[in-house]
Amino acid sequence: MEGLARLEYRGYDSAGVALIAGEHVVTAKRAGKLANLVAALAQESLPESGTAIGHTRWATHGAPTDENAHPHLGGEDGKLALIHNGIIENFHGLRAALIEEGIHFQSETDTEVVAQLLARSYDKVGDLTEAMRQIVGELKGAFTLLAVHADQPGVVVGARRNSPLVVGIGDGETYMGSDVAAFIGYTREALELAQDQIVTITTAGATIINFDGTPGQGKAYHVDWDAAAAQKGGFPNFMAKEINDQPHAVADTLLGRTNEAGALVLDELRIDEAELRAVDKIVIIACGTAAYAGMVAKYAIEHWTRIPCEVELAHEFRYRDPVVNARTLVVAISQSGETMDTLMAVKHARVLGARVIAICNTHGSTIPRESDAALYTHAGPEIAVASTKAFLAQITACYILGLYLAQLRGGTYADEAQAVMRDLGETPAKIQTVLDGLDRVREIARFMVDTRSVLFLGRHVGYPVALEGALKLKELAYIHAEGFAAGELKHGPIALIEAGQPVFVIVPSPHSEHGLHDKVVSSIQEIRARGARTIVIAEEGDEDVVPFADEIIRVPVTPTLLAPLLTVVPLQVFACELASAKGLDVDQPRNLAKSVTVE
Ligand code: M6R
Repeated sequence: MEGLARLEYRGYDSAGVALIAGEHVVTAKRAGKLANLVAALAQESLPESGTAIGHTRWATHGAPTDENAHPHLGGEDGKLALIHNGIIENFHGLRAALIEEGIHFQSETDTEVVAQLLARSYDKVGDLTEAMRQIVGELKGAFTLLAVHADQPGVVVGARRNSPLVVGIGDGETYMGSDVAAFIGYTREALELAQDQIVTITTAGATIINFDGTPGQGKAYHVDWDAAAAQKGGFPNFMAKEINDQPHAVADTLLGRTNEAGALVLDELRIDEAELRAVDKIVIIACGTAAYAGMVAKYAIEHWTRIPCEVELAHEFRYRDPVVNARTLVVAISQSGETMDTLMAVKHARVLGARVIAICNTHGSTIPRESDAALYTHAGPEIAVASTKAFLAQITACYILGLYLAQLRGGTYADEAQAVMRDLGETPAKIQTVLDGLDRVREIARFMVDTRSVLFLGRHVGYPVALEGALKLKELAYIHAEGFAAGELKHGPIALIEAGQPVFVIVPSPHSEHGLHDKVVSSIQEIRARGARTIVIAEEGDEDVVPFADEIIRVPVTPTLLAPLLTVVPLQVFACELASAKGLDVDQPRNLAKSVTVE
């Protein structure tokens, strides 16, 4: 149950467990959050057992009801139980065939079809691992499966294709989980699995085979954070804690990336330097907040490297006909490393001949494994569904990569790399200054609890920050929010402005080289003249905004390209506070899950 609680952020529509007790499999499942299952078990406890599987669900097939909750039983004797993440795309056909054979289904899920197939296979071969091996070939789609059978107590069998599964190796105990958080309280020694593998665990450890039956291997690694990092640490929710973690997230991501002479050294990029020098186009692929980090990075990467850089939503990338070839560097950004849309785009890019670098926060996850190289962010576990510290760490890692490419290729900006790294080194302290001065933002958020629409404006690197501010508010507080490039206002969106409309404006530094500061101040005047209530995020000492701002939130002076690492912080806190004031569950907003492992 502890493990499930730690994984609940991945899905929280329903929860269930199955355990082997004597000759039977016993299950308990409840719709709703894990707390419902905990309450049910407090009324009627389960028998003791040393072998169990458990699941928290984000519904795909069938509503989040008790019946559709996992585990699902298989076989007439109900001796087999199975849980599943992902989608079995051909489940309709499989289900129809099983019904034809006389099998009755209790749920509407694709998962129960697999439970029945596996039970039928077990009845033929009498061994859960072999039974699993025989059915995985019949399944289309992405899946992680875990199964137990009452005739094989002390054994759990797992299988994965394009969906996460890691193994935890304890002392006389073995675990599997969608991520290491499931077992981090018991062991920090983990095994990363490859695609298309089946793993059988007992108290003695794990045995891995490939789907074709040949022996397989896992990659052992030590998890560099402990159970305390996956706790709220005195904060009311994980999101507040993770916002507060941000100075560390940036500092840790910068750590060890330069040598004594101050030059960038990225040993982990196992791509030949000559190939990186030859790159003539960069394409960043990502979803949601990670895509906004990519949009910020585009400004910096193009500026430093002079290589054209596109940013594309991963789910759009592979459904058009992208111009990608062996000289294209694709950068896939993902906190979880498991986002299916991004994973599929990575695979597509590699088929087209591109080199792919993953920027990822999760060791042992699929996207880095499927990429040519990985640059890890070191933000620590991000548990709140809304991404915060990962965003800052992703921007930082993209900047490190951009500066490294600039250094490799020489030219004007190669010399600047060290200076930018020094500026980046000062950023954690500046983020802390922002965090320490946000009481007024919290007050504004509480005051705006009944607000129905909020707009966010920014320009240049402030534009993706505006998009991110709007996303945070939508996903957490369920308030209609939109982010715009301030220059776009007069091309339509200004029609939305009416008396009292709250608008956040991210103002560039008055010292920025592109001179956009004055233009954004003009935009503030234009919307104010039409009745907007302006909440302005501006650099310390910027007095030009004072006459036109209903509220001013100050951030420390910082170079233009680094400003997003500061200006986004008040927007995160605003969304978190407003959602809390509305009484909403900040860590687990409705309809969402942390890792979107389905397309
Ligand atoms: O794990 P990833 O970084 O690949 O996730 C991408 C998005 O699903 C994620 O950033 C999402 O948009 C967040 N809920 C935003 O707060």
